[in-house]
Amino acid sequence: MQPEVHQNAGVIRQLRPSDLPRFRAHLLRLDSESRHDRFNGAISDAFIDRYADRSFHEGATVIGYLEGEQVLGAAELHERTDLPEPTGEIAFSVERHRQRQGIGAKLFHRLLAHAHALGYQRLHVTTHSDNRAMKALAKRFGAELSFGVGETVGTITLDPNGWPDGFLLEPGPDLFSVTHL
Ligand SMILES: CC(C)(COP(=O)(O)OP(=O)(O)OC[C@H]1O[C@@H](n2cnc3c(N)ncnc32)[C@H](O)[C@@H]1OP(=O)(O)O)[C@@H](O)C(=O)NCCC(=O)NCCS
Repeated sequence: MQPEVHQNAGVIRQLRPSDLPRFRAHLLRLDSESRHDRFNGAISDAFIDRYADRSFHEGATVIGYLEGEQVLGAAELHERTDLPEPTGEIAFSVERHRQRQGIGAKLFHRLLAHAHALGYQRLHVTTHSDNRAMKALAKRFGAELSFGVGETVGTITLDPNGWPDGFLLEPGPDLFSVTHL
């Protein structure tokens, strides 16, 4: 018997202040492996609670992938004011049942455009150095994610001359179609 196929449209857009509870619920729903990869270690629900609040109150840019009222994926850009060069810390999360469907790539694209627009020269990603999905994402957009020996912070250097041809984004939300099998 053929599997039943449903089409659902998701949307990728910057999260609003009122989206904080949806962002928090998304991070709390990550399965344990994804949570570990996202935060580079074992962390508690209470930590996620505080982390989501801090992200929204300290001015991070958070792009979400939403289906209806639920945030199922997120890309974050936090400013590292402690570093001399304009540097952003970036992070990505897609819930397990939506992984490997191109959502991470869309989020990455959108976040890089924001980072360029804000004039960041470097982006840091904290994860383990064999995170293959993260490496594949960086490579796909012409960036190399490099780690020093034993380090958990990867660095992406942005081209100060701008965004490569063909990568300009239209303002406003992107519609995204997901096939459910
Ligand atoms: C990293 C993450 C956001 C990627 O999201 P995604 O929606 O699955 O990504 P995509 O479907 O757009 O795939 C992007 C690329 O990664 C590759 N990829 C995805 N998951 C992979 C995996 N588990 N192993 C190897 N490659 C993988 C895809 O094949 C694709 O490669 P391509 O560009 O060469 O085709 C998601 O896997 C995730 O949430 N992981 C847990 C949290 C995490 O590790 N965050 C990153 C550190 S902050």
